[in-house]
Amino acid sequence: MRKRLVYNIEINTTCNLVCPSCPNGYVSQWRRGQRMSVELYERILSKAQSESDIEAIYLYVWNEPLLHPELPEILQLSAERGVRPSLSTNLNLIPKWMREVLSADPTSIRISMSGFKQDTYGITHAGGDADEVKKNMGILADLHEEVGSRTSIEVLFHRYAHNLADEAPLRDFAQKLGFSFSSIWGIIMPIEKNLEMIQQETVAQESEPAKSLSGLVLLNSRDILPQLQHNPSTNCSLLDDQVTIDAAGNTVLCCAVSDFDQGRISSFVDTSLEEIVGLKSRHDLCGPCMSNGLHDFVTYSGGKFDEFALQRLGDLATEGVADAKEVIRFLTDTATSLSKQNETLQSACDERLHVIEELATAADERGVLVERLDAECTSLRKHIGELEAGRPNES
Ligand SMILES: C[S@@+](CC[C@H](N)C(=O)[O-])C[C@H]1O[C@@H](n2cnc3c(N)ncnc32)[C@H](O)[C@@H]1O
Ligand code: SF4
Ligand code: SF4
Repeated sequence: MRKRLVYNIEINTTCNLVCPSCPNGYVSQWRRGQRMSVELYERILSKAQSESDIEAIYLYVWNEPLLHPELPEILQLSAERGVRPSLSTNLNLIPKWMREVLSADPTSIRISMSGFKQDTYGITHAGGDADEVKKNMGILADLHEEVGSRTSIEVLFHRYAHNLADEAPLRDFAQKLGFSFSSIWGIIMPIEKNLEMIQQETVAQESEPAKSLSGLVLLNSRDILPQLQHNPSTNCSLLDDQVTIDAAGNTVLCCAVSDFDQGRISSFVDTSLEEIVGLKSRHDLCGPCMSNGLHDFVTYSGGKFDEFALQRLGDLATEGVADAKEVIRFLTDTATSLSKQNETLQSACDERLHVIEELATAADERGVLVERLDAECTSLRKHIGELEAGRPNES
């Protein structure tokens, strides 16, 4: 049976920022300067379509896709083949061809942000400029309207201990522009770094930027995985349902690994999907990753991650590390926003229920009509029968 797969394609390796949580930001020997050609992308897409049903294509792993100068061509080619990839960007830049990006009809554009104000944003999106991003969000919203685009635009807020007060103003700002908004707990990436932190039980060997995050991340694998280990899931969706491909066209183990030398499987176009699946399943990184529950951690699945993070936040407030007033305000905002979402959901349910009731009434009325029609038909058939038999109509 054909597999339905998600494809993560790292179309370039460059980024304009140096986020301390991301290997592209803190690994000194990062693989910079590589770029997938449109021709290679086309061969990858053809093979992917011939061997599998494509659930989604994400044109990013550890890269900034808006820095690939042929992104519009890649998206246009995808559209011609009936595929609508998705992007994720730090939006510190708007290329001059952004209109073409929207015209090529990607499924979605995610804007990753970790602050509304520069003093918070600049810590976790190091090298970035919050005001520039907000300006670019406005430009993007205008272009979206001009093009009449159906691409959904989402702001994804990365929550840390230092940026709680920024979430509500950013949500308002995003929603006023017509963008959707959601939040996740910022974590230190990738898998190898987390394994190292768990196994060495120290951050001493981390580079300065990653070390600087240790007081800010509310979800730290080293703190929570010992508790998760009681019940890590026995499979990994990144292994089973996704294919990750680097800028040179090699399949790599998964999108949560950043050392593509260690994670390399084989050339995607020259290796059958069946072989790739087999090679991936035998990779020696998955054993330690799964036994430590890291696969659940990086996908925020199978665990009580909100609970852990909120617990940590409470501890920081009690210890006086986080401002208790900010924590309370954040929790109140979160509760209000959840209750608003609940109300919206409730009214959508009520509307649906109303439609269902109307349909049921219409169905009842139809039932009565059908019964009457049926009775009329029976009576008519009786009359016809009598007429055909040459007998007078007695009724
Ligand atoms: C490594 S980024 C590459 C794409 C793009 N440069 C960006 O930042 O959106 C891939 C995804 O990781 C998410 N991400 C980045 N830093 C994160 C963090 N500290 N914790 C959780 N997710 C993060 C981003 O929101 C993005 O969707
Ligand atoms: S998270 Fe995105 S923006 Fe930040 S360094 Fe990594 S690739 Fe660049
Ligand atoms: S088990 Fe871990 S290393 Fe293996 S594919 Fe899943 S997330 Fe990646």
